[in-house]
Amino acid sequence: MRRLVSETTLRPRQLILPLFVAEGIDQPRPIASMPGVVQHTRDTLRKAAVDAVRAGVGGLMLFGIPATRDAVGSGAIDENGILNVALRDLRSELGDDTVLMADTCLDEFTDHGHCGVLDADGNVDNDATLKLYAEMGVAQAQAGAHMLGPSGMMDGQVGVIRQALDDAGLTNTGILAYSAKYASAFYGPFREAVDSQLKGDRKTYQQDPGNAREALREIELDVAEGADAVMIKPALSYLDILRAAAEGSPVPVAAYNISGEYAMVEAAAANGWLDRERTILEVLTSIRRAGADMILTYWATEAAAWLD
Ligand code: PBG
Repeated sequence: MRRLVSETTLRPRQLILPLFVAEGIDQPRPIASMPGVVQHTRDTLRKAAVDAVRAGVGGLMLFGIPATRDAVGSGAIDENGILNVALRDLRSELGDDTVLMADTCLDEFTDHGHCGVLDADGNVDNDATLKLYAEMGVAQAQAGAHMLGPSGMMDGQVGVIRQALDDAGLTNTGILAYSAKYASAFYGPFREAVDSQLKGDRKTYQQDPGNAREALREIELDVAEGADAVMIKPALSYLDILRAAAEGSPVPVAAYNISGEYAMVEAAAANGWLDRERTILEVLTSIRRAGADMILTYWATEAAAWLD
């Protein structure tokens, strides 16, 4: 009877697996604060991607960790940069069987760790950054990304990337906009995952956790600029924002079940304090219930197998 009246579905196709690929390593490197998640080599990345697709996962979101960084994040635009090379690997391996997505942001590639370039005073320069995002987005689409995920929270980023894609004839590449991205403490483990060089915080461009209205305005702007889907991030502390977005958004809504949310459950489960599988499925079901059409989660492959 419970099955008959269940309101919320959770299916593998609704899950997107974030993956990390590092340049110049010959063994996968574990991420201590995200047990079970690694920085992949190009070879192990291919295998992890194939496993995810076999399990029925609907999409992959790729992050690159370059061997060297500079002030403007050159490695992000270089067609031989690790993220672009890995996109090419995966597109040729997987074809169009799954939606291949790329993180369109400079923070992994800059030596100061910010999501954009800095001005003479050391502040993030919004408009100078937009030019680089446009080039980065075109490079990623040319490398095989089906969808770009601009995650830097620069004003106008969706519009300039859409324009640059269209100008380059890449009209089939979509944009999953990180519309409402909060300046969250829960990104802690991710910063380890990408060897982030950041000192300080991202409060000049990410949102205040106390604000809700601003999230809806960001979504409206991104949709007007051409976003094909919008994202709320993090997920668990922002389920109210997710619900409001799901009710108001004319495009599909994604939620990112982020590194800190993953780490909390893994740490408690490792201590025997939580039933791991039940907790993970409850977390993912809650995010769906709140209104997410799709969920980025480091558990995607494993959860997909359970759901099958
Ligand atoms: C920025 C980016 C971040 C995450 C995804 N893209 C980190 C940040 O804004 O500091 C976090 C993802 C996670 O914590 O799982 N490129």
